Amino acid sequence: MTNFPTGFLWGAATAGHQIEGNNVNSDWWERELTMPGMELSGDAVDSYHRFREDIDLLADAGLTTYRFSLEWSRIEPVEGHFSRAELAHYRRVIEYCFSRGVVPFVTLQHFTTPRWFANDGGWTSPAAKDRFLRFVTEATTILDGVEWVATMNEPNMQAAIMTAMRRMAETQGGQWQSPTVESDTEREGGEEKSVEKKQHGAFLQDADPAIGRAFVEIHHAAREIVRARTNAKVGWTIAAGALTAAPGGEEKLRQIRYGKEDVYWEGSRGDDFVGVQAYSSQEVDADGLVPHPPHPDNTLVGTAFRPDSLAMAVRHAWEVSEGVTVIVTENGIATADDTQRIRYTDAALRGLADTIDEGIDVRGYLHWTLLDNFEWGHWAPTFGLIAVDRETFVRTPKPSLGWLGEVAKRNGLS
Ligand code: BGC
Repeated sequence: MTNFPTGFLWGAATAGHQIEGNNVNSDWWERELTMPGMELSGDAVDSYHRFREDIDLLADAGLTTYRFSLEWSRIEPVEGHFSRAELAHYRRVIEYCFSRGVVPFVTLQHFTTPRWFANDGGWTSPAAKDRFLRFVTEATTILDGVEWVATMNEPNMQAAIMTAMRRMAETQGGQWQSPTVESDTEREGGEEKSVEKKQHGAFLQDADPAIGRAFVEIHHAAREIVRARTNAKVGWTIAAGALTAAPGGEEKLRQIRYGKEDVYWEGSRGDDFVGVQAYSSQEVDADGLVPHPPHPDNTLVGTAFRPDSLAMAVRHAWEVSEGVTVIVTENGIATADDTQRIRYTDAALRGLADTIDEGIDVRGYLHWTLLDNFEWGHWAPTFGLIAVDRETFVRTPKPSLGWLGEVAKRNGLS
């Protein structure tokens, strides 16, 4: 039996725009309408109305923590106008967690921003910091009793996208090329099948460290607001690439990893925790990220099946943050094969247990994700522990939900 520390948080994570539906005031909604190759989030999986059912499924399975995000564009649809009704909605989600004995883990900003914010310079506007801090201040009014708050989700991924967009504007007159998704053909049982793949390779090659430093400053200011106004532990969540050097790629690895990650792990020094989010591992050679080689075990987003990436990421986060408490705030796999999901998660958790044995302070594991959901422009990649019929919104738990719930109840792997 592999045991986890007493009080370990076991849960699943979600994000507002990916599950709620009809976030018409968000920048992503606008992007979905205007960018070639994007599918619409539409009703998503209607978790805005069905959050009680979703939290019930999580709690009934044996999980104890629910990570979800506040949707800034609902709360502040027009600059300076804060919707009391939407704040009350998210308070109801928090209260429902309490009523089910579930620990709410609240992300204040998960990728989306209001349209008015994005269309007036977004994070590059000189007003960005004050605008975000004003929202954070309002958000703290509903956080009574919440123990865990992340200011931002994957600012490093947001910075990589901003860096790529800037490069495109310079080289292609701003033309969007839908570069995160490539159509690919795979053989499955002898039949050719077209699948959509997100290759993090060329497009999200690097991130400008200057953007990272600006995010760190915003995060620290937000952290102090949360600390002053609530009793929550506060940190942020970082996308971990578990990058390794191919022969001759050592220098390039250091350079890419600094802008894409290490600025952020360093920026988490002084936080109460850091959220580690790992899915796969990737090599870097002298030219940059090496595309994941084709393999039958590759995921629906084209990444390699690398459950060991979680332990690699946790060790790296611990080292660069100089010992900030770790919560795994995302880890999972895009697959249509739920046995592969269980196989992946089991191996990832065994690796995580090793890091705890080595003395790393890991306090929780939140699986990405509770429900099959809107994967940022695409519906095909299914990461969920629960399948959802998008016409009827009927939820059908997969075996992996029950499996993870049993792990949680035992607080260990047999
Ligand atoms: C994000 C999620 C996303 C997941 C799978 C993370 O980058 O925080 O919103 O759905 O990875 O790609």
